[in-house]
Amino acid sequence: MFDKFDHYIQLLQELNVRLAKAVDTHTHADHITALGALRDRTHCVTVMGEKSGADVVSMRVSDGERIDIPGVALEVIYTPGHTDDSYSFLMEDRVFTGDTLLIRGTGRTDFENGDPRAQYESLFGRLLKLPDWTMVYPAHDYKGDTVSTIGEERAYNPRLQVKSIDEYVDLMNCLHLPNPKMMDVAVPANRHIGLHQEEIAKRGWALMAEDAMRLVGQPSIELIDLREAHERKAQGVIPGSIHMPYDELEENIREGGLLHELVAATGKRIVFYCAFGERSAMAVQAAQDAGLSSACHIQGGVDAWKKAKGKVVR
Ligand SMILES: [Fe+2]
Repeated sequence: MFDKFDHYIQLLQELNVRLAKAVDTHTHADHITALGALRDRTHCVTVMGEKSGADVVSMRVSDGERIDIPGVALEVIYTPGHTDDSYSFLMEDRVFTGDTLLIRGTGRTDFENGDPRAQYESLFGRLLKLPDWTMVYPAHDYKGDTVSTIGEERAYNPRLQVKSIDEYVDLMNCLHLPNPKMMDVAVPANRHIGLHQEEIAKRGWALMAEDAMRLVGQPSIELIDLREAHERKAQGVIPGSIHMPYDELEENIREGGLLHELVAATGKRIVFYCAFGERSAMAVQAAQDAGLSSACHIQGGVDAWKKAKGKVVR
């Protein structure tokens, strides 16, 4: 959450780790997300589920996909009900459940397209199918608890002691909770978290998809795909592009790096692209800072390219 931004940054420094990806489980109604601020400070990749109402995140994932970070993998489980964009993330012996499964509770289902029936399925059909020893880390706990287990929640979570889906729906529909204080501010703020790509455009470092279509294939252009292998497979690839994942950008653009040397040797213009233009916008800034003054990107990424009827191959 945004209130804890300074704490997150301090922890990153203290633990001496680089933030590669920041993942939100859903669009929060009770606080403002730190996702955008973390991206702006650390240039991390922002991740949410494909059903997220956020305007732009760097990467959208769907049920069954994996989120890879060197040494770590999260399996994506779509768990709608609290909101229609609620996801849980399984990492070996632990699951991050957002507000779907809380410690001795479950997330309310009465706003943001919440649905108690869907939540019952997410709980009983997905999360409670995990082994009993799986540790449960919810998005928050107002009592101060931080971790539980699937077995513990199955036994002692009062919301899970129902005999049928109808009993669960009745239970959730009778809660009559007041709306969160922050809701009218938090929900719109959490939907507008995308990087301001127009700032990059103002500096002349952006191509609209239609302009990019005219340039692609010309020998003076080197098109660089910053996405990960699974995104390329799922979304298709712009013909003639080189794959260079965002994670490897820094080593490629610095002096002696592949891209740096390629530009030095050929004078080619570098055109970055990614899924929605956010990673490529950050890449343009980094490349410009590294002295690659011809670097630009396709604004809006493959998403905009496809909307403009640009060709992709699979
Ligand atoms: Fe929530």
